[in-house]
Amino acid sequence: MACSLGVIGLGRMAQVILQSLFEAGQFNPEEVFGVVGKKNSVERVLHQFKSPFTVVDVNDKNAIDVWNTPVKILAVKPQQLNQVQEKCSKEFLAKLPAKPLLISILAGVKLKRLQSLFPDHVCVRAVPNTPALVSAGLTGLSWGEEVTEDQKSLVESIFKPISQVFELPEDQLDAFLALTSSGPAYLALISEALADGAVAAGLPRALAQSLTNFTLEGTAILLKKKELHPGQLKDMVASPAGTTISALRHLEKEGVRSALIEAVILAAKKSREMA
Ligand SMILES: NC(=O)c1ccc[n+]([C@@H]2O[C@H](COP(=O)([O-])OP(=O)(O)OC[C@H]3O[C@@H](n4cnc5c(N)ncnc54)[C@H](OP(=O)(O)O)[C@@H]3O)[C@@H](O)[C@H]2O)c1
Repeated sequence: MACSLGVIGLGRMAQVILQSLFEAGQFNPEEVFGVVGKKNSVERVLHQFKSPFTVVDVNDKNAIDVWNTPVKILAVKPQQLNQVQEKCSKEFLAKLPAKPLLISILAGVKLKRLQSLFPDHVCVRAVPNTPALVSAGLTGLSWGEEVTEDQKSLVESIFKPISQVFELPEDQLDAFLALTSSGPAYLALISEALADGAVAAGLPRALAQSLTNFTLEGTAILLKKKELHPGQLKDMVASPAGTTISALRHLEKEGVRSALIEAVILAAKKSREMA
């Protein structure tokens, strides 16, 4: 039976997307054809799933069948892209009734490049982030040429179970990535540093980290639910001559605000350079 969904590269993010598609019943395991780089990855990948599906390594004689699917998720590392393109089967593509859809989650690889490497596909870029692992992600989507409304709906239905979905012009995807894909790392660093501070001030490590995580989570929910500007929340917390304002004064003196601004700008710049 010809498969409906091809997945090229089955690392962490592709596995999360696939798990949620199986859970939602959007694709059945027997409809999915996955390709990985190394033979010994096949079993490791399948071990992560409740139901088996077809997974082969790129050098398997059947790996070419992935090009016979009408929808593909491309989830290899950017440096593996040319190797994928070399294996692309024109013969299969010529036989498909319509241009198949190629959804790339590769950071920094532009639609123009995807379309030049895979001219027989309709290409879409999707930028998901790591909180998708717990269905709390964000995904930025940019559409390539010739994409139909049905294909747009299909792409959205793939990412909605694990993330909130935002359609963006492609020139905003680098900034989107610098904020949302790299953001969990910035916040993890801040979380660790705050917990270190609490340990230095006398709390046990596990309690310090747990309280830090609750504080980050509670603050995000409060900002969102009450639709507060961050400055309003800061002013609510900082009472005259109190503890918070003396801590904030120190953070401003050390340039923390400026460091965070520059971090996002640098990540966006790096993403543009990688393209
Ligand atoms: N992880 C994230 O949070 C995240 C978020 C947004 C976007 N992304 C993007 O997602 C992509 C994958 O990231 P990842 O972290 O999942 O990487 P990863 O864990 O290294 O996964 C890459 C996958 O590609 C397979 N592969 C390697 N060469 C291949 C080939 N020639 N043909 C088919 N499959 C091949 C690898 O198989 P082997 O292991 O057997 O080599 C592996 O399954 C990247 O481009 C990244 O920019 C990731």
